[in-house]
Amino acid sequence: MQNFIENLPKAELHLHIEGSFEPELMFKIAQRNNINIKYKSIEEIKKAYQFDCLQDFLDIYYQGAGVLITEQDFYDLTYSYLEKCATQNVRHTEIMFDPQTHTERGVSFETVINGISKACNDAKEKLNISSLLIMSYLRHLSEEDAFKTLEQSLPFKHLITAVGLDSSEKGNPPSKFQRVFKASVKEGYIPLAHAGEEGDADYIWEALDLLKIKRIDHGNNCLQDDNLIQEIIKRDLALTVCPLSNTALQVVNDLKKHPLKKMMNLGLKVTINSDDPAYFGGQVNQNYIEIQEALNLKKQDLYELAKNSFQYSLLDDATKKVYLDELETYCVSNKCYSPS
Ligand code: ADE
Ligand code: ZN
Repeated sequence: MQNFIENLPKAELHLHIEGSFEPELMFKIAQRNNINIKYKSIEEIKKAYQFDCLQDFLDIYYQGAGVLITEQDFYDLTYSYLEKCATQNVRHTEIMFDPQTHTERGVSFETVINGISKACNDAKEKLNISSLLIMSYLRHLSEEDAFKTLEQSLPFKHLITAVGLDSSEKGNPPSKFQRVFKASVKEGYIPLAHAGEEGDADYIWEALDLLKIKRIDHGNNCLQDDNLIQEIIKRDLALTVCPLSNTALQVVNDLKKHPLKKMMNLGLKVTINSDDPAYFGGQVNQNYIEIQEALNLKKQDLYELAKNSFQYSLLDDATKKVYLDELETYCVSNKCYSPS
């Protein structure tokens, strides 16, 4: 099964580039920039990665991102993630980045986007992995601040496909960002948002009705509301589920109790993703491997999850078809259909 997962063609749809920052690279970049980090060793950093909730994690995540200064730093961070994609047969990835985490510290929007997008271009050429970018607004900041970020992004619009909404969910409902999402859509960005990770089902309703999102990041708490489940199915929206993130942040207390299979059985379209792999104990394949074991998923289930990852990506239909055909060929030769 592990071998089947490792070679399964897949897309990753929920990945924060700042959350892919491995301690080894963090030390290297901190040194290069003459920045002191409060940890003395990689072991000490890893020990600090014990979280009770989303906010616990975010406090450490923003600290880590604080050592990123130059375009080269953003390039190295992104290329290092893309190299890991190549070893996992991730064929396509949709990368979230948090500009405000950096512009707040005096790093320019241009530095961030240039470093990230150059790494993506090189990965297309050298690793044959496609990618696109999702600019995420930090929901603990004001809508006015998000508007500033939207403004800063406009010269680089051709490099950005979508907008997202992340950071501390509770107390920062989607309604707070209704106007900036409307303006973002006007600029051509596809609207996406984290919703229902720690927030209740009503936050997901707001994300659907007020922000008009096209995909739901996490979405776990849709299970609180049967009408919402039916609405998500009706609108054909996928959930980007992150199993190891959910256990690390105690959204789910045991992987064996993860609702992923229940979601699939209800008819929800779900995908498997790593969220912040450097912090939550595994890249996307590790997420597939551990959830397969915990829920005893069959090859057919894994095929469906990988299929959703391409189907619900933001790619154009022709490119989706290329990847879906590749997946189909893999699945036929690996007999992953249940006999009917
Ligand atoms: N930023 C990075 N990871 C996040 C998550 N899981 N939820 C909200 N914001 C985030
Ligand atoms: Zn996330």
